[in-house]
Amino acid sequence: MERTYLMVKPDGVQRNLIGDIVSRFEKKGFTLVGAKLMTIPKELAETHYGEHKERPFFGELVSFITSGPVFAMVWEGENVISTARTMMGSTNPAEAAPGTIRGDYGVRVSMNVIHGSDSPASAEREISLFFEEQELNEYDKVVSKWV
Ligand code: PPS
Repeated sequence: MERTYLMVKPDGVQRNLIGDIVSRFEKKGFTLVGAKLMTIPKELAETHYGEHKERPFFGELVSFITSGPVFAMVWEGENVISTARTMMGSTNPAEAAPGTIRGDYGVRVSMNVIHGSDSPASAEREISLFFEEQELNEYDKVVSKWV
């Protein structure tokens, strides 16, 4: 079963969107296996976004993501990595389809509400950056056989 790392960014937390976002993934049929509200230390933010360190917006991205608490989550399910990205919508909210999280709530690319791993390799890397193994819950849901 696939797992992904999703994170409600500081703008989403400030705008009271945690509940709606969690609800979308629950209703879709995915399983929440770990979650916590946390303020990301600068060093962890720089590691997490390390692949973008040469890009002009890197400083802005790190200062935004460390500016307030994020809601860090690990979700499990069939094809959860790519399906979650589809549910999030395009990186730039101006191009994100209505019905997606960024399409419904985002305005600009520098505050686009949610982050999600873009591949199995980045999911594995990001889950281990943000969570200890004992923070993740292995359990069966009765509903799982219906989705
Ligand atoms: S993606 O999804 O990785 O292909 O998107 P990409 O365009 O490469 O962007 C990588 C992350 O940088 C954020 N971003 C920006 N932040 C601030 N200002 C500007 N102009 C900007 N452009 C992109 C974007 O939201 C991605 O963050 P995550 O957390 O991965 O969504």
